[in-house]
Amino acid sequence: PLVVHITGARPNFPKAAPVIAALGDYPVTQLLVHTGQHYDEKMSEVFFRQLGLPEPDVNLGVGSGAHGAQTAAIMVGLEELFADRRPDLVVVYGDVNSTVAAAVVAVKMGIPIAHVEAGLRSFDRRMPEEINRLLTDRISDLLLVTSVDAIAHLGHEGAPADSIHFVGNPMIDTLLRHLESLDTEGVAASVGLDTTQPYAVATLHRPGNVDDPADVAELVRAMHAVADQVKVVIPLHPRGRGRLEEAGFMDHDNLSVIDPLGYVEFLGLVKGAAAVVTDSGGVQEETTVMGVPCLTLRPNTERPVTITHGTNQLVQRDTLPGAIADVLAAGRQETWPVPPLWDGHAGPRIAAVLAAHLGLSTSHD
Ligand code: UD1
Ligand code: UDP
Repeated sequence: PLVVHITGARPNFPKAAPVIAALGDYPVTQLLVHTGQHYDEKMSEVFFRQLGLPEPDVNLGVGSGAHGAQTAAIMVGLEELFADRRPDLVVVYGDVNSTVAAAVVAVKMGIPIAHVEAGLRSFDRRMPEEINRLLTDRISDLLLVTSVDAIAHLGHEGAPADSIHFVGNPMIDTLLRHLESLDTEGVAASVGLDTTQPYAVATLHRPGNVDDPADVAELVRAMHAVADQVKVVIPLHPRGRGRLEEAGFMDHDNLSVIDPLGYVEFLGLVKGAAAVVTDSGGVQEETTVMGVPCLTLRPNTERPVTITHGTNQLVQRDTLPGAIADVLAAGRQETWPVPPLWDGHAGPRIAAVLAAHLGLSTSHD
């Protein structure tokens, strides 16, 4: 059988890596597609090198564009590819445009779909990702779930119980595989950080934070109020970089804006941080497992388990400066809970579900 994995944007790569590796134990042919949604070296290629992902077999090279244009370009490319290769299963990851585009094409061609990270809901339809999640789950055959709350969401939406599989979090497989070898001191030195002093790491890329100039102005004030208290390093996503720069974001001595970092460099910095400020989905999960206090600058999260079982809290632009003061005063905790099945074995569990669906009951069939 032929299994096609669809990747395209930065957060897809650490999710796909453990699934592809684990599925290698089964007698299947795997084809790795990169849609080209992300294409900068630091948003894409570096992950293939660092995570041991195979080279993509196909790169559609769609690049950036408005949602309709980007999603459509991915659909056109995948329809041709699927017609040519006739996959037995298409595996999609997360909630990006590449995810939903692949699912829509596959379902109309009668190809079964497995969605890794199904059932997460922010209940905020202003987020493009929420639309992508809802649509993808609705048409997927295998719903692979990272946290218990997702099971309930899918149930309420009418997904058949036997399509839902609680498998744990493959992004955490990738994290745990690298955690011990992360070189905090080395990375800190390379970005000019003095690790004898506490520092914070920030990432920002949500449209709700960086697209509208009025939001950006408030964001700049809030982040400068953070930088008044602690040194902040921001490996800045390309989205919104121009707007932030225009709004004077970079004009603070204690705030260091750098290019996106590779996976091991980024998490090396996070591991040693006193706090993280982010609007990323994946970073909420990674900080939870690393026990790094995380302030999520969003009105909601589709990952509430990182609050109930983790180090995460939601903050707004006006509450962020006070929240960072509290976190810095409290320091990092010695022990912390971790969500169930975020244990480093999600990849093999997912591979087993996929293989069973393909009629391969053991890895040596
Ligand atoms: C996408 C996902 C988002 C995810 C994020 C992870 C969708 C709808 N959004 O958002 O869920 O959290 O990826 O990083 O799929 N750009 C570059 N170089 C690149 C890629 C993008 O310069 O390699 C710039 C372009 O100006 C582009 C903009 O970033 O227009 C946005 O890229 P896009 O892929 O459309 O969405 P993201 O904001 O990256
Ligand atoms: N990440 C990275 N370098 C950076 C910022 C983030 O390697 O400079 C990693 C991060 O550790 C996580 C993934 O990128 O594994 C998350 O991607 P992103 O925040 O872009 O997307 P989201 O999770 O919000 O969809």
